[in-house]
Amino acid sequence: MIAARIVTPEALDGLAEDDPAAMRSRCDLQRLHRVMGTRSTIVRALREINASRQESSRPLRILELGAGDGSLMLGVARALGPTWSNVELTLLDRQNLVDAPTFARYAELGWTAITEIVDVLDWAARGNGAPTDNATTSWDLIVTNLFLHHFEGTELAVVLSAAAASSKYFFACEPRRAWLALAGSRLIGVIGVNAVTRGDAVLSVRAGFRDKELTKLWPIRGRDWKLGEYPSGLFSHCFRAQRIKLECGPE
Ligand SMILES: C[S@@+](CC[C@H](N)C(=O)[O-])C[C@H]1O[C@@H](n2cnc3c(N)ncnc32)[C@H](O)[C@@H]1O
Repeated sequence: MIAARIVTPEALDGLAEDDPAAMRSRCDLQRLHRVMGTRSTIVRALREINASRQESSRPLRILELGAGDGSLMLGVARALGPTWSNVELTLLDRQNLVDAPTFARYAELGWTAITEIVDVLDWAARGNGAPTDNATTSWDLIVTNLFLHHFEGTELAVVLSAAAASSKYFFACEPRRAWLALAGSRLIGVIGVNAVTRGDAVLSVRAGFRDKELTKLWPIRGRDWKLGEYPSGLFSHCFRAQRIKLECGPE
């Protein structure tokens, strides 16, 4: 077991959107997701929460934090199928990475996708604590993949706190901080990824999570949540939080 988290800036985050090495590394990520079965992990979790069962006919509002080029969530949308067709998806990332064909593919599935280009800490500062408008409080679901491990300490707590204040359901899939995952990250060169991806993979595992680390950071704040944290496959570590509907008893 790798004792403490070590959060180090990743090379991809320091590269411009159109840097060829960054573009290649984002393609590598898509390949890594296939190897790691990321899409199935997310689809399974979202199906379990049954977020598609809505009380009203209004669209399901989903926010993805650190969405990258939007391709992972597009695969999830396809796999979820037609019962999830009335969805408003916001892809939040500090880089502008979603291209026109990706938006068009979301539209074909009945998903309205928009981007929000903002640093998540600015987003959190807007909505954290005492939200001032509905836009920050009304997500049915916040989902994130390979993102929370970028943050440590106070920043991570701020992001989780904002997510808890503004969503009914939260799901995160992150690198698992374990020796097997670390060994795997050192071997990913065999699938032909570039130097940026090879370096970042190792850093990601060292900054990853295990046990109930995210559960301990989730702010309960008097609201009731059903929490779950578990390993998935060989390399992933998942956390989910579902707000429990409070039943009103007799007065
Ligand atoms: C490892 S990539 C993961 C992308 C996507 N979720 C996936 O799994 O394919 C991390 C993403 O987080 C974004 N990111 C990193 N720090 C951020 C921040 N402080 N605010 C918003 N986005 C950030 C990066 O631009 C990048 O697109």
